[in-house]
Parts: sequence; structure tokens; C-alpha cells
Amino acid sequence: MALVPIDVLLKKADAEGYAVGAFNCNNMEIVQAIAAAAEAEKAPVIMQASQGAIKYAGLEYITAMVRVAAENVSVPVALHIDHGTSFEQVMRCIRSGFSSVMFDGSKLPLEENIAMTKKVVDVARAVGVSVEAELGKIGGTEDDITVSDKEAMFTDPKEAERFVKETEVDALAVAIGTAHGVYKGEPKLDFERLKAIKDLVKIPIVLHGSSGVPDEAIREAISLGVCKVNIDTNIREAFVNKTREVIANNPKEIDPRKILGPAREAAIEIIREKIRLFGSSAKA
Ligand code: G3H
Ligand code: ZN
Repeated sequence: MALVPIDVLLKKADAEGYAVGAFNCNNMEIVQAIAAAAEAEKAPVIMQASQGAIKYAGLEYITAMVRVAAENVSVPVALHIDHGTSFEQVMRCIRSGFSSVMFDGSKLPLEENIAMTKKVVDVARAVGVSVEAELGKIGGTEDDITVSDKEAMFTDPKEAERFVKETEVDALAVAIGTAHGVYKGEPKLDFERLKAIKDLVKIPIVLHGSSGVPDEAIREAISLGVCKVNIDTNIREAFVNKTREVIANNPKEIDPRKILGPAREAAIEIIREKIRLFGSSAKA
């Protein structure tokens, strides 16, 4: 299938009470793993590339790999930039063929975040591309973006209402206690805040930093309006741990396919588990 914008996927998820998995892709094997898992589960899926992934693999490679992956499955696939912090970078992604973008202005003062996000929405909307934005500051590290515990800031529901009204974004990433990367302790999500946000903004809510969040908390968040759940760290762990295991068991192996092939299988397994947890199996 051709790439689809995320608003189509998320509106259906919002109406039917499940979430679409948004999985970060950094290389060919992970793109293939996401496609294979989504196809096996008959689930809609979002493949997202961070600025770091684009720097590593190259914008043309990422776009081409995901386009080919989408064309080879029967389920809808969106290609999304994750945490785009520069207007120019987001525009390059749109021009390259991304069906959806995230503009992350969460480090900017509110007025500037609104103004920049609106600027992205105006261009994106004109060409049929969806926009996700972020309000509040999600802690932790993802690639080249770090938000310290001190800087992290929960989303204010009233501000969220104003932000969505003025920017007209398609989806909103909120800070309610999750963080990027590996958690030190068990994350505690602020469900009251999530409920208050969802009561005021009627658009799909996005949960970032979802690796390591207990399954029960993910289910609860989805029941309160989260329609897009982002997973990166859990895929990295599955992929790299399997790579380590294969090399440890076969120290003389020099064929990358015999190392990365099993890693791809491990990634498929964890992605399928997440899709089932999010309730998006058989929703394609
Ligand atoms: O934007 C990507 C996600 O928020 C990934 O977070 O690495 O904690 O799964 P994670
Ligand atoms: Zn994120």
C-alpha cells in the first residue's frame, strides 16, 4: 500500500479505543521487522525516524526503505519524523515523501512553540501530511535530545486546550510521567492529568517513552485516550541483545546476515507483542 498520514490511522483508533504502535526505525532490518510484525498481526503501523536515525541512515534511504516496506504489505503504514526540532528538517522530510511529521517545540517558550507548530501545520496540511506536536517536556534521552529530570515538565491541560485550538495539530504528545530510554525505577503515570487533557482536547493523544512502562499502565492510558504509543528502546534492546547472543555463541561468525537475521526475528517478536498489547491487531 502507499504511505498514509497518521490522522487517518489515529482517528479510527480513537473511535474504536485502541492505539497504533509507532516504532522507531534506524536500519533496514528494523524497517523489515516492523513491516513483518504489522503484516502478521494485520495491524496498521507507524514507522518513525528520529533526526538521529536520518543522520545515520540518510533521508533518502529511510524514505525509500519504508516506502518499499509499505508497498510490500497489505496493512496501512505511515512514515513519520519523530521529534523533529527544526522547521527546515521537517520540510525536508515532507519533500522526501514522509506522510506525517512531528514538530517538537517543547523546549521553546509556549508562544514560540505555538507559532512554530502552526507554521508547520500550515505547510503540512496543504500537502496532506499530518502533524504531531509536543507540549510539556518528556524526560530522558532519545538520540541527540536530552531532557534532564529537572527540566522535565508535565503537560498543563488548560495550556493543551489552547495549544490545540491555536495550532490545529492532528495529534498531541503529552508529558504525564513517561521518559525516553531505560527507566531507573517503575514509571508512575499521572492518569488524572491525562483524563483532564483528553476532556479538553478532542484529538488523539500520543504517549512517548513507552518502553518499560508496565502493560497495565499502557492499557489504562489507551482507555483514557492515548491512540499512538511510541516504542524505540525495547526494539533496540531486543535487536542488540540477540546480536550479542549470536556473536557470543558463534565467535568466529563473519556473515552479517547470520547475526542480523536473528536480531531481526527478535525485533519482530517484541513488536508483535506490543501491537497485541495496544489492541491494534486485526484493525488494518
Ligand atoms: O519518540 C520515541 C519514543 O518516545 C520512544 O521512547 O525509547 O522509551 O521507547 P522509548
Ligand atoms: Zn519520543
